[in-house]
Amino acid sequence: MKQTALKFLKDSSEWTQLDIIADKAENGQILNGKIVADGHISYPIIGGVPSFLANRLQLDGAWTQEQNKTTETFSEKWNQFRNYGMKESELKLHQNWFCKKFGIEESLDSLKGFYRNKRSILEVGTGSGFNCRFMAENCGGYVIGADISDGAFTSYHNTQDLDNILIIQADLMQLPLKHNQFDFVIADGVLHHTPNTQLAVNELFKFVRPGGQFFFYIYKKMGPVKQFTDQYIREAFRDLPPEKCLLQCQPITELGRELAKLDAKITLEKPIPVLGIPAGTHNVQRLIYYNFLKCFWNDALDYETNNMVNYDWYHPHDAWQHSESEVHEWMKELGVGEYKINDANPNGLSVLLTKPLQA
Ligand SMILES: C[S@@+](CC[C@H](N)C(=O)[O-])C[C@H]1O[C@@H](n2cnc3c(N)ncnc32)[C@H](O)[C@@H]1O
Repeated sequence: MKQTALKFLKDSSEWTQLDIIADKAENGQILNGKIVADGHISYPIIGGVPSFLANRLQLDGAWTQEQNKTTETFSEKWNQFRNYGMKESELKLHQNWFCKKFGIEESLDSLKGFYRNKRSILEVGTGSGFNCRFMAENCGGYVIGADISDGAFTSYHNTQDLDNILIIQADLMQLPLKHNQFDFVIADGVLHHTPNTQLAVNELFKFVRPGGQFFFYIYKKMGPVKQFTDQYIREAFRDLPPEKCLLQCQPITELGRELAKLDAKITLEKPIPVLGIPAGTHNVQRLIYYNFLKCFWNDALDYETNNMVNYDWYHPHDAWQHSESEVHEWMKELGVGEYKINDANPNGLSVLLTKPLQA
């Protein structure tokens, strides 16, 4: 971390005094050392990243154990796929997808415009850090990025040249940050990977300032056949060591690739309500992917990255799926009236809400 990034933590945490003790520094980055909070609590800085995982001692043991299994999946992923989302071709794909998820016009300008006036952003579950980087480059203030896994180190690696960003390693249930603080909080594909999605939503909501926005993307509950195959394969794969699971995913990835090669479409005159399949014209690979078996393939990504997307689906210990009506219920309980569930893709729920001024 940069010494200067300490001010973002100062602005965003309850601590009145924060000091850095640097054991190893290079090119303006503190690589090893510690942060001392209010003179007595100390947190290690490891490989440039302050780690607040010690706060997790306050969490329930069973919760932590469950979360640790999911964390192992993602540490492997972000150690192997350090450039995910960073290549020009992938960036475009992700930028278009973010526009859809936020429900804004699909253009780079409108995505940049979305961030322009945001002065303080918190991203949780940063992964490779590609989105943290984009937000820091385009927002009007600073970004704090937090990930529980080795993703924190990969994110640091991919953003360390920027002056307005601080990456920390922390559990979103124990963030060392002040409530009612951020203009924008984002958790993209993260909260369903914790032991309880709703509790994770409630926790992050606390960090949004009144009038600020909160975006989260979670998995959507699909039809019965898809639910069956998801559960069946997850039970078979999730206890495998990551490298074995990656191998087991390969034939599924190749099925996706071969189906995509067909580039075939079929038209269903009638929906199949019992399977949750709508009427209309379907790309065959997508029809299978959404309704029968997740076999991701996208030509814009290389083989390993496509396979990693399937690994990311089947290996995490927790990967909950939710319905729109559950989200409506959560919003009601939080007292949120202003929100939209954007229809960016059939198997996800993209929720963008505004925290009421009187929350
Ligand atoms: C599917 S990845 C998504 C990464 C990134 N947002 C993206 O879209 O590429 C989920 C990320 O959430 C992180 N994560 C899961 N549970 C977390 C928690 N309790 N606190 C912080 N991060 C968490 C994982 O380590 C992982 O990097």
